[in-house]
Amino acid sequence: MDSSNKRGSVVRVSTSSRAYDVHVVPGILDDCGALVRQSAGGQKAMVVSDTNVAPLYARRVMDSLEKAGYETAKFVFAAGEASKRAGTWASCLEAIASAGLTRDDVVVALGGGVTGDLAGFAAASYMRGCSVAQVPTSLLAMVDSSVGGKTAIDLEAGKNLAGAFWQPSVVIADPTCLSTISHELLTDSCGEVIKHGVLADPKLFSQLEARPINDPEYDVDELAAVIARNVEIKRDVVDADERERGLRQTLNLGHTIGHAVEAASNFTLGHGTCVSIGLAAIARAAASLGICSDQTAQRIERVIDAHGLYTDVDLPHDQIVRLAMSDKKRHGDGVNVVLPLEVGKVEVRRVSMAEFARLVDAGCGTASLGRTAHLAR
Ligand code: GLY
Repeated sequence: MDSSNKRGSVVRVSTSSRAYDVHVVPGILDDCGALVRQSAGGQKAMVVSDTNVAPLYARRVMDSLEKAGYETAKFVFAAGEASKRAGTWASCLEAIASAGLTRDDVVVALGGGVTGDLAGFAAASYMRGCSVAQVPTSLLAMVDSSVGGKTAIDLEAGKNLAGAFWQPSVVIADPTCLSTISHELLTDSCGEVIKHGVLADPKLFSQLEARPINDPEYDVDELAAVIARNVEIKRDVVDADERERGLRQTLNLGHTIGHAVEAASNFTLGHGTCVSIGLAAIARAAASLGICSDQTAQRIERVIDAHGLYTDVDLPHDQIVRLAMSDKKRHGDGVNVVLPLEVGKVEVRRVSMAEFARLVDAGCGTASLGRTAHLAR
């Protein structure tokens, strides 16, 4: 960790296009104006948020921005993945233009993953790029989507198909915001935390085994430490490979099958929930091929189950393969899958469609424990 004290940490991200700080500090929301001023400058700040988060936090954030000398405006959209579309993005750009922002001004993305992706893409495209400050309020956004500069909207043809790599000037994560999210949403986010443990950190994984991160008894300082560790894991990957040419593909652990499950559920299952299903399935497939041990696959299933997430899915295998092959991560007639070798170590392997189908057969419908999501019609 770059700097830390009992009340939180600052993790420095240094990608090839931009360096910035990720502040993970309980109560820091009220200081966000000063942090945005230091990192982005400008005169005007457009706060972008959804109908769930804006009533809770927009006023506090705008007060802090105004105290730091900004003229503020707000764009609020209907909460939910259905808003991550071209229409909302265009309305957001119109609102930014009407508020008179220039390229020197700043968009403040206040909310979860949808808000960060949408506002980030609006900032990336407004006047060919203005600053964005990411202020994540969900666990998933704090540990994953606010860091690393992926911004996007969904198209009819699929999720995240239009977007840009656009790094923020600062990320401001206040773990006290997690007190206002539902246990269900917190649980969904745990999928990405478990993924980070499997791909890079046996110690974090053991900590999750000993005590699930969605345990209501976690206090905010303990949560801040876990979030900061997840940010460091992601930082180490995106610093080395901002544009997903190599190492960043490891962050897709659990996502190839997970995205297929997410699409098959019509996005009624959360992203982290689907990543957990994909992670458990690919771990079982890897064990069946001798790529990892049975014990590793079982540890992964057990920790997913302990967090209250599904370990398997009931879906026709040909549907999973078809949906996975229509995902944007496909390469030619194959796909790069991330396979666990042991807890803390993974490998990216290019497989043909036929090899992927064999992995799906070995990994789906074969759980040794936990709950199955029933999606077959
Ligand atoms: N969530 C995966 C990535 O940022 O690359």
